[in-house]
Amino acid sequence: MDLMTFKWRLHPPFLFMLLLITIFCQNSRFSATATATDSIHPGQSLTGNQRIISKEGNFELGFFSPGNSRNFYVGIWFRKIGKSDVIWVANREVPVSNTSAVLKISKNGNLILTDHEKVPVWSTNTSSSSSASSNIVVLLDTGNLVIRDRDNSSLILWQSFDHPTDTIVSNGWLGMNKITGEYQRLVSWKNPEDPSPGAFTATIDPDGSNQFLLVWNGSRTYWTSGVWNGRTFGAIPSITYTPIFINTFIDDDQGRYFKFLTADNKHFGRNVMDSTGQIKTLVWSEDNQDWIMFWSEPVAVCEIYSVCGSFGICSEKSMPLCACSDGFQPQSERDWKMNVWGDGCRRKTSLKCERDGFLGMQNMKITSDPKMLMMANITDQDKCRIACLNNCSCTAYSFSYSDGGCMIWIGDIRNLQQLSESDSNGATFHLRLAASDIPSSNKEDRGTRKAVKPIIIGVSVGILVLSSIILMLYWRTRRRSYRKSVFVEGSVAHFKYSDLQRMTRNFSERLGAGGFGSVFRGKMGDGAAIAVKRLEGSVQKEKQFRAEVSTLGSIHHVNLIRLRGFCCEEIMKRLLVYDFMPMGSLDHHLFRHDSKKLDWKTRHQIILGVAKGIEYLHEKCRECIIHCDIKPENVLLDINFNPKVSDFGLAKLLGRDFSRVLTTARGTIGYLAPEWILGLPITAKADVYSYGMMLFEIVSGRRNAEQTESSRSIYFPIWAAGRLMKGEILSILDEYLNGNADIEELRRVCTVACWCIQDREDHRPAMGLVVQMLEGIVEASMPPIPSYLQHLSDDQSMEFLFSRQV
Ligand SMILES: *[C@@H]1O[C@H](CO)[C@@H](O)[C@H](O)[C@H]1NC(C)=O
Ligand SMILES: *[C@@H]1O[C@H](CO)[C@@H](O)[C@H](O)[C@H]1NC(C)=O
Ligand SMILES: *[C@@H]1O[C@H](CO)[C@@H](O)[C@H](O)[C@H]1NC(C)=O
Ligand SMILES: *[C@@H]1O[C@H](CO)[C@@H](O)[C@H](O)[C@H]1NC(C)=O
Ligand SMILES: *[C@@H]1O[C@H](CO)[C@@H](O)[C@H](O)[C@H]1NC(C)=O
Ligand SMILES: *[C@@H]1O[C@H](CO)[C@@H](O)[C@H](O)[C@H]1NC(C)=O
Repeated sequence: MDLMTFKWRLHPPFLFMLLLITIFCQNSRFSATATATDSIHPGQSLTGNQRIISKEGNFELGFFSPGNSRNFYVGIWFRKIGKSDVIWVANREVPVSNTSAVLKISKNGNLILTDHEKVPVWSTNTSSSSSASSNIVVLLDTGNLVIRDRDNSSLILWQSFDHPTDTIVSNGWLGMNKITGEYQRLVSWKNPEDPSPGAFTATIDPDGSNQFLLVWNGSRTYWTSGVWNGRTFGAIPSITYTPIFINTFIDDDQGRYFKFLTADNKHFGRNVMDSTGQIKTLVWSEDNQDWIMFWSEPVAVCEIYSVCGSFGICSEKSMPLCACSDGFQPQSERDWKMNVWGDGCRRKTSLKCERDGFLGMQNMKITSDPKMLMMANITDQDKCRIACLNNCSCTAYSFSYSDGGCMIWIGDIRNLQQLSESDSNGATFHLRLAASDIPSSNKEDRGTRKAVKPIIIGVSVGILVLSSIILMLYWRTRRRSYRKSVFVEGSVAHFKYSDLQRMTRNFSERLGAGGFGSVFRGKMGDGAAIAVKRLEGSVQKEKQFRAEVSTLGSIHHVNLIRLRGFCCEEIMKRLLVYDFMPMGSLDHHLFRHDSKKLDWKTRHQIILGVAKGIEYLHEKCRECIIHCDIKPENVLLDINFNPKVSDFGLAKLLGRDFSRVLTTARGTIGYLAPEWILGLPITAKADVYSYGMMLFEIVSGRRNAEQTESSRSIYFPIWAAGRLMKGEILSILDEYLNGNADIEELRRVCTVACWCIQDREDHRPAMGLVVQMLEGIVEASMPPIPSYLQHLSDDQSMEFLFSRQV
């Protein structure tokens, strides 16, 4: 029965009763709010299940006991939303055993907590002021607990926002106070049932640079935000640039700190350093009645130092993330069940020194570590193993010709990582175990050689001879094919490193540096100019690298830069050879004041050419290639100003984890589609978005996110979209052109640009359609103004961000 019909059937006496009940309820609610207070005054105290509630009811303070813990803590938690996540804990290191503890204001004006025997266990510990007797404690609606003067609310003596635990909420800050020298750091809880300080800390760089570090055990940094450049942190361009949060960094006489703000009061957000070592931004969703993860770092959890503790093995794709190898078991089963692994694994059987053996583990990632020693003078696997076996504190060894020979580990190993099957760059790692713990399938890896029977020796010798014959045959065929490929592999030439060194005059003329490495100018034997890109951090196996190169080499389109050849000798000697483009990159012609500006005809030719190049990558190649970094810097121009898109397919060539590369190092801020920022799957439509953003720049001759002359900062595409609606198209055009443009072409370009930057990817046209719309084959309707960008430019956030720039 629905409510309406019910209402109509009510009889008058019934109604009267209902009225009474309503009045009664309202009354009792009223009295409840009347007794609930947001402050503690001198002489008052808080004990048992008494609470104080902030004025609007956003937050609550009282005693709590997390999960199955028997300990009690004083904390602040969310009250208005559906979950009561704790944002601050007073006595995180000194729990009280039950709620007969008392929280009150002491004689010297501090907030103190005394246990059931009246022994003080925690205090705010500020120096007492002269007017201590007029101090009161107030819980503000921001979640900040302050001690302030009773009559003067701006006289704040202490506040919880200066002493965060593992969380900052909107209006909170993280950094350091230059006057007191105090740091605001986030320190993880040990586990979800224990708020005492865990191993992971988020802190501003104590060495003075304006960046944030994630640190394990107070010493080992495993992630950095990159330095604040006035608008964003270097490694995480997206964080300040969101519709929901306005994040800023302030460096003044008082301090250096990051300030976290939600754009409006409707959204609740929090930044948490969690027990596994990841820092996360969460936003409350009313619709889902849950927290939604907005952003987190490191994205690859196995990069967190010691996330699986000593001897734990991290594997990005497995659930749970951490495991103990054969011969080990979790140090704490209880933590392991809570998905907190930092305590790591312990041996089932302790080591017996020279009678131990080794467990071979395939495809492990080797990361350098102070506990890893390179044994430069050991040149074979067997000697490497013996070197480890002979030193009782050696816990593992690994031997590989390509990665530096013999490596041994002394003591605990904390960053073991199992690579996935698709990633074949790992090494074999030999972990020392007590002989009895080595599974029988792995027996040949035992350290004790005495027991080896003659027959086994015979068989091994046989296998050895056989395998060396096979190896020799393999090498011979391989060398032959190698020789053959010296000149041409598919349509890509293979260059010797020494030749490229000569052609570039030992890499002396640098043309520029992109996301994947530096580019140098060179000259071929026949006089043709080339651009040689030296790839940085290529980790792929040679075979895979060659396969990728030949795929890229098979891509031919007049608007894509052509790969002429490559070099692949060692990891550090991986280079790509391209045709040299005499007119350089597009940004140079658009934004530099000293260069001759492009006329409309040339701009239009570039716009159309780039669209065709990207269309080819998306729709005409065997495998769809998403460029992911469309921007003027990646559009090169030949002598006739024909555009050639560059830098496509490289992320894959470097064999890096695609998504990770892109969310951290790549994708330049103004061109990033919202799905990057929201962490959604990336499709070819992300390129369409970046292309649209670039169109506005080509038309206007200025960066989208730049200050305008009137010094009011606006976000250009939104402004331009508004002009487009009003039909004032010429006002979008680069002033330098004095209105000299084909108005019809200009209108089409602006309309396409506006369609390309729509929030929802299914609203954006595919690149093929873009080409047709630009050519006038398909007529585009008037697009809506993208609300995501509008949100950005409406906010004061944009104004604030851009006013800090330059
Ligand atoms: C609190 O604990 C103490 C000692 O463990 C005990 O004496 C006291 O009765 C307890 N109080 C309550 C309210 O449980
Ligand atoms: C308060 O400060 C004193 C000295 O500055 C220090 O010894 C003590 O540990 C502090 N107490 C708390 C609870 O922080
Ligand atoms: C309140 O305290 C602030 C900060 O110390 C001071 O500047 C202000 O004059 C005080 N206001 C009153 C009314 O006392
Ligand atoms: C953690 O840091 C402390 C103090 O710096 C140090 O004594 C301890 O050995 C470190 N723990 C590990 C496992 O490295
Ligand atoms: C390698 O060098 C170390 C010292 O650097 C030495 O102790 C060791 O005996 C050498 N091992 C071999 C196999 O030469
Ligand atoms: C084991 O190697 C470490 C590091 O080289 C060295 O400090 C230690 O003395 C060695 N122990 C033995 C027993 O040789």
